[in-house]
Amino acid sequence: MTRYKICLLPGDGIGPEVIDCAVQVLHALPLEWDFIQGGIGYAEYQRGGSPLSGETLQKIRGADATLFGAVTTPPNIPNYFSPVVRMRQLLNLYANLRPCRSIRHKSSRPGIDFMIVRENTEGLYSGIERLEDNGTRAITERVITRRGSERIVRNAFELARQTGRKTVHVIHKANVLRQTDGLFRSVAFEVAKDYPDISLLEMLVDTCAMELVRAPEQFEVIVTTNLFGDILSDEACMFVGGLGVAASGNIGADAAVFEPVHGSAPTLVGTGKANPSATLFATAMMLDYLGESHHANSLRQAIETCIESGKSTPDLSGNLTTSQMTDEVISALQLNLERNKS
Ligand code: NAI
Ligand code: MG
Repeated sequence: MTRYKICLLPGDGIGPEVIDCAVQVLHALPLEWDFIQGGIGYAEYQRGGSPLSGETLQKIRGADATLFGAVTTPPNIPNYFSPVVRMRQLLNLYANLRPCRSIRHKSSRPGIDFMIVRENTEGLYSGIERLEDNGTRAITERVITRRGSERIVRNAFELARQTGRKTVHVIHKANVLRQTDGLFRSVAFEVAKDYPDISLLEMLVDTCAMELVRAPEQFEVIVTTNLFGDILSDEACMFVGGLGVAASGNIGADAAVFEPVHGSAPTLVGTGKANPSATLFATAMMLDYLGESHHANSLRQAIETCIESGKSTPDLSGNLTTSQMTDEVISALQLNLERNKS
């Protein structure tokens, strides 16, 4: 049986609770797992002086894939940094994938199935910021490189091809950001020449924000720069059914980290109200990444079956606790496994 080494980064708040659900679900699959634990976030900072240590980075690099819960941002600690942004940069996790697919629940908008592919390491989040004129002028540099643009656009086209999609939308603001988005846009059209079976369409980011509300069914794959992708993907996660279900993956050449979109939800800690689905959908993305798409699909089906039949946490109008819902997902998953066997 294939054996995978998975790094677990539970983090803060409800992170440990939802990561625990993922571990239980993975154990229910006919695969073998070695789990290693890594520290990240505020509790890790209080313990060891850094929210993301070199040791944790090594664990992520050494694993086949990583599952990350969530972290709490503490108020006003001068030398504190966002371990999430830092992790993406240091591990060069350049592609942020956000699947936006309808689920069979009233909180989800029907007929939607697209992927947002966001550049995850440069753009306005490149971390080059300064204050000038005694703090009266603040400057952030927006860095777009040919290399960074090419690899993310290629990633979007490959994904479109693998999933049988026919269009890729490149989202930009090249009419105003003529240099940075001008480069991103022109690289996109260059790369598109290698994919004659897929059409590249372009849209300005403000129009895209509007079109996502008006007619989201038109999109199949969206590729865009860091900040635009951050905003559009949060907008789009409402089609899926909100923070209780939205998942994402951060993928680089040497490492991959999968996570729920939500944060550490401090008020839910210990209440049993945290919906495990977002983390379980992230776990399904991880299974896809590991080449276990068959199990990934079974898991997604199992989560949806539970949600559809009301076996869910209160945010999706059910009355189960986090661990009860996880047990239901495992039962549905085992049923799927049995069915697929026979
Ligand atoms: P949040 O995502 O933690 O919570 C927003 C709302 O969604 C709250 O009402 C919460 O109860 C609800 N919610 C979140 N996850 C849920 C789940 N699994 N099931 C049911 N309901 C859920 O965002 P918020 O409150 O803005 O931030 C809390 C902390 O998390 C902050 O310290 C923030 O900096 C951090 N954060 C961390 C992220 C990460 O680790 N990737 C992402 C977003 C926020
Ligand atoms: Mg965000």
